[in-house]
Amino acid sequence: MHQLWQALVYRRINSFGQSTSAGSELDRKKRISTCEAQLHDGTRYHQFKQTSVTKALDYAHDAAKAWIEGLDARPVAARATLSQLRNTFQHALPETGMKAEEVIRWIAENANDGMLGSAGGRFFAWVIGGGLESALAADWLVATWDQNAALYACSPAAAVIEEAAGEWIKSLLDLPREASFAFTTGCQLAHVTSLAAARYAVLKRANWDVENDGMFGAPRVTIMTNDQKHGSVERAVRYLGFGRAALMPLQTDDAGHVTPQALERALANAAGPIIVILNAADLNVGACDPFTKLIPMAKQAGAWVHIDGAFGLFARASRRHRAQLEGVEQADSWATDGHKWLNVPFDCGIAIVRDCNAHRAAMTLSASYVAAEKSARDQIDWNPEWSRRARGLPVYAALKELGRQGVESMVDRCCAHCDALVRGIGALAGAEVVASANLSQGLIRFWKRGQTPEQDDAFTDEVIQRINTTGEAFFSGTTWRGRRAMRVSVVNWRTCARDVERAIAAVRSVLAAIDTSADYLI
Ligand SMILES: Cc1ncc(COP(=O)(O)O)c(C=O)c1O
Repeated sequence: MHQLWQALVYRRINSFGQSTSAGSELDRKKRISTCEAQLHDGTRYHQFKQTSVTKALDYAHDAAKAWIEGLDARPVAARATLSQLRNTFQHALPETGMKAEEVIRWIAENANDGMLGSAGGRFFAWVIGGGLESALAADWLVATWDQNAALYACSPAAAVIEEAAGEWIKSLLDLPREASFAFTTGCQLAHVTSLAAARYAVLKRANWDVENDGMFGAPRVTIMTNDQKHGSVERAVRYLGFGRAALMPLQTDDAGHVTPQALERALANAAGPIIVILNAADLNVGACDPFTKLIPMAKQAGAWVHIDGAFGLFARASRRHRAQLEGVEQADSWATDGHKWLNVPFDCGIAIVRDCNAHRAAMTLSASYVAAEKSARDQIDWNPEWSRRARGLPVYAALKELGRQGVESMVDRCCAHCDALVRGIGALAGAEVVASANLSQGLIRFWKRGQTPEQDDAFTDEVIQRINTTGEAFFSGTTWRGRRAMRVSVVNWRTCARDVERAIAAVRSVLAAIDTSADYLI
């Protein structure tokens, strides 16, 4: 900023040019010396800075509002290609700077076409929420306040608000109130945080101090997981030094649930410390494991039970849907996301751990210059990061905006829209329902008469691509039980009945254009 200020002052000086008479030469020198004085005048610089920053923020605010207001009208898919985006953004590092507001204008204008309309109501790919208004606005403030939410001492308000948000989350999800928590970047790091606590606890029971002695020579830990586990679980296991070989898949039934028999067999065959990881809604079919049966069995065998509830745990807030999650509160740790069903902007995950001593032992650190406030909660004791943004604040805002009832109705609404989409698309010629909607997730497959299952796999991917190209809706694909399918995932608070109708109409028009009744070869 200061360099820019200097450049502007010198540009002004240079613009005074050469004088033609003695009088004007005097005048020119006076103007130059005024400018030079301004160069070292902190107040003038400060004024300049204020105007420039305000303009940049105003522009960002206008661009953000235009983006949100335009979500319904713009294509959901990105329009720009990879090479277009690279050509635009990957130029040489500028030697000289540019005004802040010009930077923002340039970025907003050029990035727009390369953005997905995932915050809008017709985005049904992966599991992506949309950013509630209060949470988004709170996130702007988080960036503006620019607090280091590592310690109470670095930002007292951020620490206390995050503490309150964690308590609210436990209450909303009806998990043990004595549990500790951490706001991480996502469910991936919530797994790492929770499983670091699990690693500490199960190895401590085996007389091994992992925090001191590490993993070399440690007793081997067996990690049993639902065979439909999310990839982030395996990655957390790798991060923590257990290694992929520690994983023991637990067989699931046709609906994606670990059966008690499968767990019984696995427990009977395992020796040493055990961690069992169960699904509170898998991402393909929303399947929740039978917790009331499985968790007591695992506990009986001395295992630590961890739950992947990236989005599904929020169904605990719904009286209509919470039965599927009965007994999940008996687990030892839970990983979930704020940026999925709670609809706070990226990035926000949440780890919740029943044994707060294990959690703290796995995460805490002490350094001579860390100003720990004994009676306050320092986030650094519970989080894997050191410096971090005040991530709990958008969660606090979202929960305050919605209240318990608002979360419940958002969950119920998303489930109802998912059901309508799966039924509506599944009824079209050339489509079939692979998995009915459950906890906001469902699966559809596309087929053509006379095609082999492999051809239908490729056809399904092609139809997804074609739907996305219409710009009317956006879906992603998956492989379920060995066959390709289109996922229908609805966790965005913006999705409404009109979005559902538009998405079904888009799929109908794509299928009609292909003519699914004819033999078709890819
Ligand atoms: C079931 C499940 N677990 C874990 C994750 C990982 O979450 P994140 O991307 O927030 O790390 C996802 C992401 O979609 C998920 O669906």
